[in-house]
Amino acid sequence: MTQHQRLLIIDFGSQVTQLIARRLRELNVYCEIHPYQNVTDAFLTEFAPKAIIFSGGPDSVTREGSPRPPQSAYTLGVPVLGICYGQQVMMQDLGGLVEAGQSHTAEFGRAYVVPTAEKLSILEGWFAGEQHREQVWMSHGDHVSKLAPGFEVYGTSSGAPFAITADLSRNFFAVQFHPEVHHTPNGAKLYENFVRLAGFTGDWTMGAYRAEMIAKIREQVGDKKVICALSGGVDSSVTGILLHEAIGDQLTCVFVDHGLLRLGEAEQVVDMFRQNYNLNLIHAEESDLFLGALEGVSDPEVKRKTIGKLFIDVFQKYANEIEGAEFLAQGTLYPDVIESVSFSGGPSVTIKSHHNVGGLPEKMGLKLVEPLRELFKDEVRALGHELGLPASFIGRHPFPGPGLAIRCPGEITREKLEILRKADAVYIDQIRKHGLYDEIWQAFVAILPVRTVGVMGDGRTYDYACALRAVTSVDGMTADYYPFTHEFLGETATRIINEVKGINRVTYDITSKPPGTIEWE
Ligand code: XMP
Repeated sequence: MTQHQRLLIIDFGSQVTQLIARRLRELNVYCEIHPYQNVTDAFLTEFAPKAIIFSGGPDSVTREGSPRPPQSAYTLGVPVLGICYGQQVMMQDLGGLVEAGQSHTAEFGRAYVVPTAEKLSILEGWFAGEQHREQVWMSHGDHVSKLAPGFEVYGTSSGAPFAITADLSRNFFAVQFHPEVHHTPNGAKLYENFVRLAGFTGDWTMGAYRAEMIAKIREQVGDKKVICALSGGVDSSVTGILLHEAIGDQLTCVFVDHGLLRLGEAEQVVDMFRQNYNLNLIHAEESDLFLGALEGVSDPEVKRKTIGKLFIDVFQKYANEIEGAEFLAQGTLYPDVIESVSFSGGPSVTIKSHHNVGGLPEKMGLKLVEPLRELFKDEVRALGHELGLPASFIGRHPFPGPGLAIRCPGEITREKLEILRKADAVYIDQIRKHGLYDEIWQAFVAILPVRTVGVMGDGRTYDYACALRAVTSVDGMTADYYPFTHEFLGETATRIINEVKGINRVTYDITSKPPGTIEWE
């Protein structure tokens, strides 16, 4: 595989380190995030970065034993950019001074930086507005009180006299704010200037990735057979199509239909793949098995575990029929494999058991093919586009593995699922008609385990209540409810009640995440 120009991000534990990587990938620059503990002198030599970025982090450089990069980060001769904690690390390591937080120097949130010296190359395009200042996002308790020798100040804010600093002779840059976040509107420009200065040519594109990955898959798989669980979601679809391009008939995809899909979804997915890609596809119609096992189950975790286990059993049953399969393809993404810097030390609490085919490769003696391991979600979409997947398919809202089971709190019945499917279809139709689909990260209906009294015509009704959910989010980790107009909500409620027999009351869920979760279970 072609060796791309590489940038190394040394992670000191900031919540937003991934955003740095995403900003860089948007600039067609290949970068990797590695926790500071793993970055040794030997690692750096082997990695051979063309530039290095030090992330922010929650520690204080004034504390003995606080996280540091290896010394060779400063002697490799490549440009280095330090952000927030990364700036403080640089100052402390190179002979400056950092003082622990005091209330008058701590800064959290929006601040404005103004230039103090002549133009700095990485600030090309900054301070162009009428007020000659830039909005930036600060989040620091400690502050730099003395610059390291060789550094000068190029920008200040009211709380950070050393907001932008640089040692031009060594191409070291250090900023106190976070250029990677949305609230530093011109931050991407700073990264762009930095990578240009470091000599990156933008050789990381999805067109090139497609060709390279196809060659890599062929090399890994040889003439062996591969199976792939297709869910109809973007990740598994792109995985399947990429493999199909690489190895054609050696691939078989298994689409497990657990009877918990949305209206017409199974047919749509199967048709799309059979008609457009002519790949070996097994449509495993197993709804009786899944719905049978879920009968009488109302606990959310039991539901998830039941579905997860059955999914593996079913997948294995079909996979066993494919003689000589040696590989399992999975749509694992880069955020799933980035090792995070943990300061708490303990394992995080399981909020929900996620559904995947974990454990299956070992159980079946299969080797893994994970062609998306290096990609962020937006890159997977771009790759899907390269591979000719329809835009409407690529842009679909995420759908959880356990499907409608977790949108039907309480016991699941076929009757409730039918009602839920119809209501969901009307809701999504409304969202599309109003041109809101792409603005919303995820939208769906949950059918509630409660019947309420209503009046329609001259008669009394006693039917289910449902909740509409719509959220905006970047990655599903946090979310806010979508602010529909009352008009939209009213119109949608009327349509659902008129068009869906079995529902006589519609509510709108206005919980953000946290404290809520996106799904109801
Ligand atoms: P929550 O409800 O945890 O959901 O806020 C966050 C995102 O994850 C999706 N989700 C799942 N996806 N398997 C999946 O593949 C699951 O078991 C699962 N549970 C939740 C959810 O739809 C949302 O996009």
